[in-house]
Amino acid sequence: MSRRFKLPSHKTKIVCTIGPASRSESVLRQMIKNGMSVARLNFSHGTLAEHRQDIRLIRSLSTELNRAVTILVDLPGPKIRIGRLESEPLYLKKGENLTLTTKNVLGTTRLLSVNYKDLPESVSKGSLIFLNDGFIQLRVQQVFKDEVNCKVLIGGPLLSHKGLNIPKAKINIETVTSKDLNLVDLALKEGIDTFALSFVEKAEDILKAKDFAQKKGKDIKVAAKIERVEAVKNIEEILAVSEAIMIARGDLGVQVPLEDVPLIQKRIIRQANILGRPVITATQMLESMTENTRPTRAEVADVANAILDGTDAVMLSEETAVGKYPVEAVTMMAKIASSTENNWRNIRLSLDLMNHFKNKIGRKKASIEDTVSLNVMEAMHMIKPRFILSPTKTGNTPRRISRFKPDCWILTFTGSDETSKFLAFSYGVYPFWIKNKVDNWPKTIMKFIKDLKLIKSGERLILTEGLASSPVGGTDSLRIITVQ
Ligand code: PGA
Ligand code: MN
Repeated sequence: MSRRFKLPSHKTKIVCTIGPASRSESVLRQMIKNGMSVARLNFSHGTLAEHRQDIRLIRSLSTELNRAVTILVDLPGPKIRIGRLESEPLYLKKGENLTLTTKNVLGTTRLLSVNYKDLPESVSKGSLIFLNDGFIQLRVQQVFKDEVNCKVLIGGPLLSHKGLNIPKAKINIETVTSKDLNLVDLALKEGIDTFALSFVEKAEDILKAKDFAQKKGKDIKVAAKIERVEAVKNIEEILAVSEAIMIARGDLGVQVPLEDVPLIQKRIIRQANILGRPVITATQMLESMTENTRPTRAEVADVANAILDGTDAVMLSEETAVGKYPVEAVTMMAKIASSTENNWRNIRLSLDLMNHFKNKIGRKKASIEDTVSLNVMEAMHMIKPRFILSPTKTGNTPRRISRFKPDCWILTFTGSDETSKFLAFSYGVYPFWIKNKVDNWPKTIMKFIKDLKLIKSGERLILTEGLASSPVGGTDSLRIITVQ
């Protein structure tokens, strides 16, 4: 096998939401070529037929372009939404009266339907209701059996099926709904095993989805979306049972004071880094590119700052789902990532995290994998290797190295398709799925990267290995190799 293979110019992973603007073969192809590693299918929108078509297309393009692309299915959870509108966009004007009804009607500027039958019980006179991530605000005037009369405090344009938030209200909907579980079932049948769970509150919510899949004989990986006050409070227990997390700043920004979001982001990224869980920073990163070919300076700084905070992945939502410039948005994200990573001479974040492991966690808690990952970083700083090579069963070792954001690529090699796919979320990891049975991993890996012409003689490499025989994983050492 001898083919041209080039690693991306950026190590931060780019998650793109697929929608009407990016569903076509030509747009998807361009998005993959320009740096998309994860395609997020938002199961809140679209039909099953569309999702199937997206899945098929993404998989075939990933093979055609020889680029690993992982599919993430995002489940709606108990998201309250308005119904369909008579015409779009609808302009709500400040000072006007607007009725929200639990009946199913086509929305107008006077009457909007809401998919939550307990709405009247969840609000009272004076409550604030936010539409479209808080861009439109209403105040409740009067509550009836199945209607709520409001006044528009802040108006603006509104599209069908936009989200509705009632900050601080107790919502009587289960966190993982039966609709979510049905969608898990459908996605499992399509061979998907990675899900984002919306509006989780506690560890139990994640376990509920996992148990459901387990009963069907499948292990799923869950990215918990942190977008509720309760989730921020319960972050430790949520991180303990989730494989990844998403800082879902859209809903988070209406559930907590908007000004608290940046520091919550920083704190959660650090906690996830310590545990080696990939973290996705999401929503409005390049929002203005929905309409424009270039983002604002503030948006560029937001992406760069999330990377400096230690995020593994950055996400595009409306920019790629419904925006006018999906390909330009991915390209811009890749450029910001690459520039930020390359100019990141400030290695404070990785040193700080390394110090945490050296000084804070104590002898008893330090696992072998933590120790090896730390040693890999020390070796990397000393010898500046071309690559870190990490054969892995579960992905635990490369994820632990990835959290320190090493300067060189971590190439992972695994016989497990699932492990390989999930490594798409981790910073600076390029996963290779080795389909054939392997007897001697170091030998196979060296041949593999030589065939791809990724190394030259004289270059040095760091290889992680499991020398003691152990049933799972078991990486316990590192080796420094000079390419012959
Ligand atoms: P959503 O999640 O786009 O599914 O609402 C992201 C967010 O809330 O930021
Ligand atoms: Mn959300």
